[in-house]
Amino acid sequence: MELRPDQFKLMLPLPVTVITTVDAGGIVNAAPYGCVMPILRPLDLIAVASAPPRHTLKNIRETGEFVVNVMGTPSFDKAMMTAKNYPPEVDELKEVGLGSSPSKEVAPPRIDDALGWIEAVFEQEVTGDRYVLIIGRVVCAEMNDAYCLDGRLTELPALMLSPHYHMTGEPIGDVRETMKLFLGDAVPGQ
Ligand SMILES: Cc1cc2nc3c(=O)[nH]c(=O)nc-3n(C[C@H](O)[C@H](O)[C@H](O)COP(=O)(O)O)c2cc1C
Repeated sequence: MELRPDQFKLMLPLPVTVITTVDAGGIVNAAPYGCVMPILRPLDLIAVASAPPRHTLKNIRETGEFVVNVMGTPSFDKAMMTAKNYPPEVDELKEVGLGSSPSKEVAPPRIDDALGWIEAVFEQEVTGDRYVLIIGRVVCAEMNDAYCLDGRLTELPALMLSPHYHMTGEPIGDVRETMKLFLGDAVPGQ
């Protein structure tokens, strides 16, 4: 089956993470991000691709810190609800009912139900017309003990094409519209 160039993600699935940030006033922001990848050895850098108008990007530019919360089945639907376009003064974690705790090295909080946390500080940005690539230096990485046994995760991280993702209930606000940007015509449940 030949795919359109923008459909390659159907065979190279993206992870489902939620990035937490804070603005200069300390207000917490949370948003799902799938375009997240490590950068070569020693693998202490992480790259995130953002569309330019995101609060997440604005906050990283403002305060220089972010947390990549690796999501699995626990609290998955709540995590997806953070994709709604809330006004900047809204703490999205509180709004969707996701519990959080302080991070170890950075100001943005960790999501309690994430499988693990990657805390990063801003290192560099590459700016294109339609995207911004944020490169962060990882200052703390931790698996959630609730989902970890003998140094391995006991839950699979969610992927955009994983069965769990396909099963995600009814449309939540404009989440399906947002997903279309990432999955094209293959948005589950269409
Ligand atoms: C599963 C999923 C993955 C997403 N991945 C990205 C991404 O990698 N980059 C991006 O800019 N937006 C991504 N989005 C869209 C943002 O999460 C969405 O626009 C959100 O409202 C941005 O929130 P913010 O303005 O508070 O940062 C994704 C959305 C979903 C549902």
